[in-house]
Amino acid sequence: MLQRDPNAKHPKYIYMNRRHFLVKAVPMAAGAALLAACAPTLGQVTSPPQAPAGTPVPTMAPKDLPAALAHTDAFSNVTTDELGDKLNTFEQITNYNNYYEFSTDKEAVAPLAKNFVTAPWFVEVNGLVNKPRTFALADLYNSFKQEEHVYRLRCVEAWSMVMPWVGFPLSDLLKMVEPKPEAKFVKFVTVFDKSQMPNQNFPILQWPYVEGLRLDEAMNNLTILATGLYGKPLTNQQGAPIRLVVPWKYGFKSIKAINQIELTDKAPLNTWQEAASNEYGFYANVNPEVDHPRWSQATERRIGEIGRRRSLMFNGYEDQVSSLYQGLDLRANF
Ligand code: MTE
Repeated sequence: MLQRDPNAKHPKYIYMNRRHFLVKAVPMAAGAALLAACAPTLGQVTSPPQAPAGTPVPTMAPKDLPAALAHTDAFSNVTTDELGDKLNTFEQITNYNNYYEFSTDKEAVAPLAKNFVTAPWFVEVNGLVNKPRTFALADLYNSFKQEEHVYRLRCVEAWSMVMPWVGFPLSDLLKMVEPKPEAKFVKFVTVFDKSQMPNQNFPILQWPYVEGLRLDEAMNNLTILATGLYGKPLTNQQGAPIRLVVPWKYGFKSIKAINQIELTDKAPLNTWQEAASNEYGFYANVNPEVDHPRWSQATERRIGEIGRRRSLMFNGYEDQVSSLYQGLDLRANF
């Protein structure tokens, strides 16, 4: 995001532009390093995925997701979304990725993430809940019905794709842990594992990557935890083994490789807001009427298409989500 000019069409131009921004980004990175050095609490550290004491090591590995899906209608061979937009291909979706822990170059993420080890994996759910719990991946596959969800993903950089996810509503998991009445927000944290995620060794962003939703946004039917795509387990570059997908918000909200979910009473400071609060907010709802300070959000480039298309309010999910924001100034709360 720091490096993207969304109006650039030619890959080489994008490449040049990326370099330009990387150079510009250095002072921020240095600043982040400095801040982290004098404020240890900023560098909130979680450990790599590991079993809590007494948890049996799961027998199910990500490759077993297809078996878990066998008794569901997890991949229906649909070819379009509900607006009639064609699905992006598996190749497009898995070779053009934002995943800063591995690379700031979208086409380099897939090869660099290839050997990322995602089994065993645990997701700890805690904070303001009655029944805190650590889920092994097998629990997540088996306790929740895995279904297909075809969604548009609209990046804040103004490119987009249509993706056939496999996953389950986040609300199913939240109901199981029983949020306390004072829980108002949900915080998500990506695994922190410098030995596997090369860029976590550098202050490109504040690590680990953090995102947040209001509890009512988290409970909305559209919000899912994705475990797969095109009927197969997620690839590493997509955020295996489990990631968030919030289709009416800019893509940076859809945090990858989650191993902690915490219910809180305060809005979590998400990673991009922390990096540049004048450019990236907490809400990050797709809004063609509110431009990014450095580019227009009125249009977008659908990967695989020539030319640009009009961006849609809430990414086309207005009917399902606009009631969440009644009375909220969407310009101030961007
Ligand atoms: N999650 C983590 N942990 N690290 C990241 O760099 N990038 C975000 C989001 N989730 C990111 C992340 C951004 S900016 C986007 S647009 C989407 O992932 C991209 O998802 P995709 O690569 O599956 O298209």
